[in-house]
Amino acid sequence: MTTFGIDAMSFFTSNAYLDLATMAKVRNTDVNKYYVGIGQRLMGVPSVDEDIVTMAANAADKIINDQNRSQIKTIIFATESGVDQSKAAAVYLQTLLQLPNNCRAIELKQACYASTAGLHMGLGLLHRHPEQKVLLVASDIARYGLNTPAEPTQGCGAVAMVLSANPHLLSLENDTGCYTQDVMDFWRPNYSEEAFVEGKFSSKMYLALLEHTWRDYHEKSKQQFEDHAHFCFHTPVSRLAEKGYALLARLNNNTLSDAECHDKMQDVLRYGRQIGNSYTASLFISFMSLLDHAKEDLAGKRIGFYGYGSGCVAELYSGVLMKDYKKQLHTEQHQALINNRNNLSYEQYETRYNYKLPTNGGKIVLPKQQTGKFRLAGIANHKRQYELA
Ligand code: HMG
Repeated sequence: MTTFGIDAMSFFTSNAYLDLATMAKVRNTDVNKYYVGIGQRLMGVPSVDEDIVTMAANAADKIINDQNRSQIKTIIFATESGVDQSKAAAVYLQTLLQLPNNCRAIELKQACYASTAGLHMGLGLLHRHPEQKVLLVASDIARYGLNTPAEPTQGCGAVAMVLSANPHLLSLENDTGCYTQDVMDFWRPNYSEEAFVEGKFSSKMYLALLEHTWRDYHEKSKQQFEDHAHFCFHTPVSRLAEKGYALLARLNNNTLSDAECHDKMQDVLRYGRQIGNSYTASLFISFMSLLDHAKEDLAGKRIGFYGYGSGCVAELYSGVLMKDYKKQLHTEQHQALINNRNNLSYEQYETRYNYKLPTNGGKIVLPKQQTGKFRLAGIANHKRQYELA
C-alpha cells in the first residue's frame, strides 16, 4: 500500500538569543514567571539581514539534494510574517534552492495553523501525482510590542519538509479532527508590524479547540489517547503545550499526574524553550525536538499533532514513524545550531528590535550578521535582494 508523508525535514533559527533572565532584570520581573510560569528560557532574535525567506532557505538547504531536487513540483510556504502582499515567499525559494522552473509556488496564511494546512494540501497533491515531491516550509518571526506581557513569547525559526509517497520519516494517517471559530484572540492588521493579542483569551481558545479537535479526531479515527506514543503541539509557550497534554489525558480518563505529564513532554519542548514561538514552524520544531532527544526507539509508533492558529483554526491528526526514521535526522546540526548562538545583551536585543528596513525605495546594503548560507543582502527600488552569504 502506498503511504504519504514526510520524507525529510530540518529546521533553522537565528544565531542570537535573549536569555529571559536578562529581560526579567530590565522589566523588574521575577525570572521564574518566565522560566517556570510560561516555561520559556531563551528567545531567538533575528539578525537584520535575516527574514522568513532566508530562514526557510537555510532550513531547506539541508534536505534538498540531487535526487529530490528535480522531483519537487510544488513549493508551499506557510507564514504569518510575509514580506510581500502579492508575491509568494515560495517564489524566492525556487531560485535560491535551484529548484526546477516547472513547479508551482504559493504562500499560505492562517496564523500558526498554515503549516498544518500546507501539510494536508501537499499530501493531497501527492495522491494525484505520487511520483512528485512537495517542498513545504514554515517560517516566522514572532514579534510583539516591547514591554508587553507577550514580549517574552517572541522568537523565530523555520522548518522545511520534503513530502512524498512512501516517505522515509513519517507516514501521515487520513483521519483528522478540525475546528474553526471566528474570534479575535490574536491578529495583525496590514498596517502593524506587531501582533495584537488577547493573551489569556488566546490560551483559552488554544485549549478549547484542542478539546473540539480531539473529539472530532477520536470519533473518526477511533484512536485512543494511549495509542499515541507522544503528542507534539504548536508551542507558543511550553507551559501551554504541557497543559494541552494534561487536558488530553484528562479527557480520556487517563490517570497521569501533572508531574508525569510534565515529564512526558520534556523532549518535545527542549528546542521550543530555547527558540521561543516560531509560529507556523513551532509544531514541527516540537516534533524534531522529540526525535532529536528521545532515548526510546520510536519506529512504528504513532505520534499525535496539534496545530493551532489564532483567529482561529485547529487540527488534530497523527502519523506513524517509519522503520529507518533515525537515518533522516539532522540531530548534530540542529544541536550545534542551538548551542552555538550568541547571548545578546538587552541593549543589543533592543537595537535589533528597533531596526527598520527602509520603506521609501531607497537602496540599503545590510551588514553581515546572520551565519546561514543565504542572507538578505539589501533592498533597492522596493525589491528584496538575496545572496549566498
Ligand atoms: P501574562 O499576563 O504575562 O502572564 O501572560 P500571567 O500573569 O498569566 O503568568 C503566566 C503564568 O506564570 C501563570 O500561570 C502565573 O501563575 C505564572 P498559569 O496561571 O498560566 O498557570 N507565574 C509564575 N510562576 C512561577 N513563578 C513566578 C510566577 N509569576 C507568574 N514568579 C501569556 C502570559 C502567555 C498569555 C502572554 O505572554 C501572551 O499574551 N503571549 C502571547 C499570546 C500567546 O502566546 N498565546 C498562546 C495561545 S494563542 C497561540 O498559540 C497562537 C499564536 O502562536 C499566534 C498564531 O496562531 O499565529 C500566539
